[in-house]
Amino acid sequence: MSFTIPWVEWASLMIRWLHLAAGIAWIGTSFYFIWLDLSLRSRSSLAKGVLGESWSVHGGGFYHVQKYAVAPEEMPAELHWFKYEAYFTWLSGFALLVVVYYFGATSYLIDPARADLAPSEAIGASLGFLIGSWLIYEALCRSPIGRSTPALAVSVLLLILASAFLLTQIFSDRAAFLHVGALIGTIMSANVFVVIIPNQKKVVADLVAGRTPDPALGAQAKQRSLHNNYLTLPVLLLMVSAHYPMLFSGGVHWGWLVIAFIVVAGGVIRHFFNTHHAGGRGIVLAWQWPVAVLLALGLIFFIASRGPALSKENVSDNRALEIVTTHCAGCHAPQPINTAFSAPPGGVVLDNLDALRRHSEQVIAQSVISHAMPLGNTTGMTITERAELGQWLRAQ
Ligand code: HEC
Repeated sequence: MSFTIPWVEWASLMIRWLHLAAGIAWIGTSFYFIWLDLSLRSRSSLAKGVLGESWSVHGGGFYHVQKYAVAPEEMPAELHWFKYEAYFTWLSGFALLVVVYYFGATSYLIDPARADLAPSEAIGASLGFLIGSWLIYEALCRSPIGRSTPALAVSVLLLILASAFLLTQIFSDRAAFLHVGALIGTIMSANVFVVIIPNQKKVVADLVAGRTPDPALGAQAKQRSLHNNYLTLPVLLLMVSAHYPMLFSGGVHWGWLVIAFIVVAGGVIRHFFNTHHAGGRGIVLAWQWPVAVLLALGLIFFIASRGPALSKENVSDNRALEIVTTHCAGCHAPQPINTAFSAPPGGVVLDNLDALRRHSEQVIAQSVISHAMPLGNTTGMTITERAELGQWLRAQ
């Protein structure tokens, strides 16, 4: 009996599982602690140094949490830290990037029509973006701009959009969108690793040594943790964007604009929740959802306006079959000829017309509206062929 084990696919599955679990735990703690912070209320009866308290009920019991302005006078016997959620999310995310996009650079990372990079060049560019954008973010936060929340927010948005623009010039669309998510995720994890946790450690060390901790340390950590909170929703959507290739129809010129919609809408929705948790009611809560809905509609109409060019002439069945046989069936067959796949990817078989009709909407999304398929356009599918395939599918 002979069999092959698709190790890379198994590694991808296991690491993705870990990445999801760690990410959910991290975002859960981020949402919870920002909520907790905003739910604090101060009362005159609070003990010395206590900034506010919050009561909640969950799982059959009442919880009573108090926050100290800087730190309690004495170190508690047991102190819980929240850092491994962030570290494991980044480590597993980076491992997944390596397994999917670095091992599969020619399929997933490189789009020769954009930039005909060698895998080593593409991987170098990927690492350069992750490290470079974090360094620029760190410099922005520490510069005078960092003292003004609105100026910093606009600068970080511009940094993200400039990266998005450059990434869509050199990588395939799905890699570019994923990298914007990955570089935001890297900034968020670095905030925990380089600022939040070290600052908290300094406060703890001061307490143990009987010194008064510097309140600026806590304030800086809180600023970064708030940035992380605002970035969570955009990151989540960017991470799953590969499943919705219509998002890629902005292409090389307008991909950054699609990402701008996502980042701003996600931030605005977070702002609604943060304002609500802080006790805001009425008019201060009135604008966020309408703005987010308008942004979403703007995105939907923008993408629709870039609808695919379909062929003007009728396309014969034979021609449609010829196109999918040339460009799709190498991978999308019961027994793929492409040795990278042990089964038809995504369970999608495209070696006959009935199967093509069954997957009509998906094929239009992947190959007509966007250029997500064929993967890495290794077969060199042309715009004319996409228009012909679209025309045939629409006529069915
Ligand atoms: C080099 C191999 C390869 C070629 C060639 C290829 N695909 Fe794919 N296809 C894949 C892989 C891998 C996936 C799974 C994508 C993922 O991991 O998200 C996929 C997934 C899909 C899906 C399912 C997406 C979903 O909704 O989950 C569709 C539809 C699809 N391809 C259509 C096409 C069409 C149409 C062509 C030809 C024009 C084509 N593919 C050519 C590798 C290929």
